[in-house]
Amino acid sequence: MNEILKLVLKEVKPTPADRKRLERVAAELIGQTNAACAKLNIDAKAMLVGSAARDTWLRSERDIDIFILFPEELPREELERQGLAVAREVAGAKGREQFAEHPYVTTRFKGFDVDLVPCYDVAKPSEIKSAVDRSPHHQRYITEYLTSELADEVLLTKQFMLGVGCYGSELKVQGFSGYLCELLVLHYGSFEKLVEGASGWKPSTVIDPERSYPDPSEAKRMFEKQPLIVIDPVDASRNVGAAVSMQNFATFVRACQDFARGPSERFFFPKPARRLSARQIQATLKHRGTALFCVTFSPPDVVPDVLYPQLRKAERTLVTRLARAGFEVMRSDVWSNSRALILLELAVAKLPRVRAHVGPPVSIEVKDFIQTHLKSKQKLAGPFTNAAGRLVFELKREQPNAGEVLEQALKERATLGKHVGEAIAKEYQIYTGKDIVQLCGDEKVRAFISEYLTRCLPWYR
Ligand code: CTP
Ligand code: MG
Repeated sequence: MNEILKLVLKEVKPTPADRKRLERVAAELIGQTNAACAKLNIDAKAMLVGSAARDTWLRSERDIDIFILFPEELPREELERQGLAVAREVAGAKGREQFAEHPYVTTRFKGFDVDLVPCYDVAKPSEIKSAVDRSPHHQRYITEYLTSELADEVLLTKQFMLGVGCYGSELKVQGFSGYLCELLVLHYGSFEKLVEGASGWKPSTVIDPERSYPDPSEAKRMFEKQPLIVIDPVDASRNVGAAVSMQNFATFVRACQDFARGPSERFFFPKPARRLSARQIQATLKHRGTALFCVTFSPPDVVPDVLYPQLRKAERTLVTRLARAGFEVMRSDVWSNSRALILLELAVAKLPRVRAHVGPPVSIEVKDFIQTHLKSKQKLAGPFTNAAGRLVFELKREQPNAGEVLEQALKERATLGKHVGEAIAKEYQIYTGKDIVQLCGDEKVRAFISEYLTRCLPWYR
């Protein structure tokens, strides 16, 4: 095991030269940001936070997080106005303003991805005024406890998360943030001990580094239905694991169990998913024998943290509509790049005209069940009793074609998420079965569909 971890660390740990370069660039950015504040006569100061400030960045990931700290008394609109003014001054024309919950600017600077984030310099992180105000406190907390040995353990943890596909708290991923990895390493003491501990995690596991809750069941109540509860040591009202979905929780726990049994570099550096050719995709579709539908449209111009929840909402709506119309959806997924895709895989695309409408069992009064359906134009047979003792009518199914159900559901803009609904209202296409191969001229779409059709936990590939 140790040999493997050493090899991995050698791959992912920045070299002293890498470090020097990042430190130089970060110092330059801090200087420029403070200079911009002075020039614009704005009362704020720059602070380096995140992995770049803690030596917990992976060599493959080059991002620098600069926070611009404003006095607590400043009104919110002023923070946004002055914050963006400073950030624009630093980033120049290449800067891109991002609006999720909080406005900030991203830019490229000397080969690094830079985030310039205005925030409040709050004294107590439990009294934050905007969602990002905790970060400077995280910075102080982690640097207090994280030794350089532990920083190496964080690197192993982050690479493991990346390899098994769980790294990142952004809503596209719904996984483990860098800060969460750091807290887990601090709590368990090493990557290996984390793996051992996490192998036994059950949903609603509580980790409370500062014992903010005398009783873990209190934390469970507070963060109901969240599979992983890691109490933020700087703010007890926040679960640092809030972003972790049940799916990623389960993937990580399974990865830890498997790694504990058979450690391998495969977990950190899995084989990429198999890339199928258009012909192989066609053959696979035929072989699976399912009915695959692909709804495609032009993605709305919003950040991924806004787009992905809406795509999943639209996906859920379509799955529910199909299920209600009697169609079993075996699996579905969403994706976006130059086109947005909602993939729906059905057991069948066409159902018979007749459907059974099951009424009450013999122990329960009939009421108007029979009268309602007896004269109905939809009636094909019935009433009769079935083997379970229930009354049954056989009625005409309204929509025997899944495609029609889908078309109808796509007309109901309100249920598809705001921007996604608007985009679909403008234009969409549905590809079915082997026609889906036509979409695979786009390499990235082909990669997505290949991964979908050959899906497998990365370390089993
Ligand atoms: N942060 C947070 N919760 C999140 C995302 C970010 O509290 N879900 C805060 C943390 O204080 C974090 C900082 O924002 O340190 C910067 O975020 P990010 O760049 O996403 O994470 P890093 O810790 O820098 O990790 P890396 O860049 O290596 O992925
Ligand atoms: Mg970062």
